[in-house]
Order: sequence, then structure tokens, then C-alpha cells
Amino acid sequence: MKNLEKDYITIALPKGKLFSLSADLLKEAGYTAEGLSEKSRKLVIANEEAKIRFIITKTSDVPTYVEHGAADIGIIGKDVLEEADKDVYEVLDLGFGKCHLMMAVHKAERRNDLIDYANTRVATKFPHIAEKFFTQQGMQMEYIKLNGSIELGPIIGLSESIVDIVETGTTLRENGLEEIVHIMDATARMIVNRGSYKMKFKRIHALIENVRAALKDKERK
Ligand code: PRP
Repeated sequence: MKNLEKDYITIALPKGKLFSLSADLLKEAGYTAEGLSEKSRKLVIANEEAKIRFIITKTSDVPTYVEHGAADIGIIGKDVLEEADKDVYEVLDLGFGKCHLMMAVHKAERRNDLIDYANTRVATKFPHIAEKFFTQQGMQMEYIKLNGSIELGPIIGLSESIVDIVETGTTLRENGLEEIVHIMDATARMIVNRGSYKMKFKRIHALIENVRAALKDKERK
């Protein structure tokens, strides 16, 4: 499969929480393919008639596929997009996948002020966002990159705190952790490769507008 094949629009969808919401929205906007399912073992699913191709990738890889033009379009959470810091166009806020990024500590280890955590260890999947935030607060920290189950950090003494996303708050509660500072809000975004946007402008522009209309329809319901 060649990158940026002229005839096709390739859309990268993330596995996990955003998959079905993204696939459903695109379907409502008129963009789908037979067999498009997260459970599919097929990683490229094409609609030959409509000349659309979907690729299903690990969440954190979506911005990479789009930046390199292996996908023209991607759907990804603002948190992951911000962390990846890739050179892509962010064209639409899709509104779903609402969560926020925050710093949390073990309840029993709570200190008076944020600054009291200076020079301690933070476990996170988002070291760039965390470093940017703490630097703005004038704090130097030690960052420990984890790829999942971040909440374990303070529980087993790997770190004093975590920077992670919260959706319902259940994971924090069930692990005796407490949010101490809000860092940023996030929702799902549509991103577009810069070259594709120029070369396939008509089709991509139409897709964006159709998705925008589908979002408005959903709001009305
Ligand atoms: C995310 C995040 C938290 C959890 C928050 O993890 O890292 O652990 O969701 O959601 P809640 O506030 O609704 O409990 P995810 O499920 O993506 O898995 P991970 O542990 O692999 O990061």
C-alpha cells in the first residue's frame, strides 16, 4: 500500500474508548466500510466503491500516521495529540471522549501546596504535557514514563504523584488517590495531514463538513 494514494482517503481510527464513537460518527456522516470493527483482525478495511480506507491503530500512533501521510485523516484525543506534538492540522473538536488531565497523589500523602511536591517523582503517560505544566509552575520534577495503570505509581512507591487522565474518577477513588490540580481538558479531535489537505482538498473539505453536519444533527437529537 502506497502512502497518500491519490484515489483514496485513508482514515486512522484509534483502538479503545474512542473507536466506536468515531466509527459511528463517520458512519452518520456517510463514511464507513463493511466489516469496520475494532474486533476485526484486519487492520486495513476499505470501501472500494467510496474510495475510503480505514486503518485501526494504537491510540498513541494515530498522530504519527497522520503526520507522515500514511493516513490523511485521524481521530484522536486532545491529550494524546498534545503529548505527541506532531505537525498536523487540527480541524474539528468532536465533543465526545471528554476527560481531563490532572495531577493526583495518595490521600495519605497529601501535602499543603503544589509547590511542596517540587523535586519529587511523577509517574505518567504524558511526560511532555507534565513537564510543560510543572515548568510553568516553576517546579522541577523527575518524570517516570509508564504506558498504563499509572495509578500504581504512588501506591507501590514508584512515585509521589501521577499525571493522568480522569474520565469518571472511578480509578482514582478505587485506588485511594486524590486529584490535587487540574491540568487540561480534552475531547476527541479530527486531525488532517498537511499535504493531504492541499492535494485532496475537495474530498477532505467535504468530509469535514459532513462530519460537522452529523455532529449538529446529534446535538439536535
Ligand atoms: C485511563 C486512565 C485512567 C482511567 C481513568 O486508563 O489512565 O487509568 O482511564 O478513567 P476513570 O476516571 O473513568 O476511572 P485506560 O483505561 O485508558 O488504561 P491504561 O491503564 O492502560 O492507561
